Amino acid sequence: MAVTSFNDRVVLITGAASGFGKLLAESLADMGAKLALADLNEAGVAAVADQLVSSKQCEVIYQACDVSKEVQVEAFVSAAVSQFGRLDIAVNNAGISGDMKSLIDVTEADMDLNFAVNAKGVLFGMKYQIRQMLQQEGGVILNVASMAGINGAPRLAPYCAAKHAVVGLTKTAAVEYGRNNIRCNAVCPYFSHTPMIADSPIMQREELFAQASPMKRLGEAHEIVQAMLMLMAPENSYLNGQAIAVDGGKSSF
Ligand code: NAI
Repeated sequence: MAVTSFNDRVVLITGAASGFGKLLAESLADMGAKLALADLNEAGVAAVADQLVSSKQCEVIYQACDVSKEVQVEAFVSAAVSQFGRLDIAVNNAGISGDMKSLIDVTEADMDLNFAVNAKGVLFGMKYQIRQMLQQEGGVILNVASMAGINGAPRLAPYCAAKHAVVGLTKTAAVEYGRNNIRCNAVCPYFSHTPMIADSPIMQREELFAQASPMKRLGEAHEIVQAMLMLMAPENSYLNGQAIAVDGGKSSF
């Protein structure tokens, strides 16, 4: 399916300073979308926005936003709507992996941090995005979960639990708001080369993780972004409530 109709669509992206979020913003700018970008890293998201304005003449706003803080998420969604008058697509992408450790060593603080950012951050985003979309003729939400939202993830128990929560929130929103023409799906990537994993212990065992995939390699950010674009595409108007693995076939084992 050709993805052609992001032109003039208003797209909100969290975690847009780096990795998938940054590359998605660049791809959407090439396709004529209007962008509202947020990240905890204010300098990083400002640099992305400046580059999109200067090199692609993109209409873009950016805001520092910690997605684990409801008041900041509300303010960001509000700023996007104030700027553009509507919100067509929202991508709840911001996330952290947390430290890798065995389940028996996980602390309450590990769980709290992972749930604050990865699960509550998505819930807060959806809450205000859906409120806006209910006032329009609908909208599209894409949550960035993980293969850890579908399967177990050794030494990543808090992340795995929080990403399962993202899939649950996604399916619940799809069921509650499908009648309002609001579609909500989740993308579930396998390990992919982004700054999130570049400095993590995952890269010390890259070959092991690569061999676990039928394609014998990790994903590349542009491959995940292609799948995100497909899931977000207005043409994909009956795809709702799905958690789609983008994993080189790993989940087919
Ligand atoms: P990344 O680290 O390159 O980008 C994540 C962005 O989120 C960063 O710019 C960071 O500043 C921002 N962020 C972190 N905490 C935040 C907060 N509290 N509020 C706002 N922004 C915050 O990582 P990547 O890989 O691009 O990750 C994007 C999403 O993809 C995450 O949700 C991650 O869990 C998910 N994912 C990544 C995989 C991978 O192998 N790279 C695999 C599966 C899922």
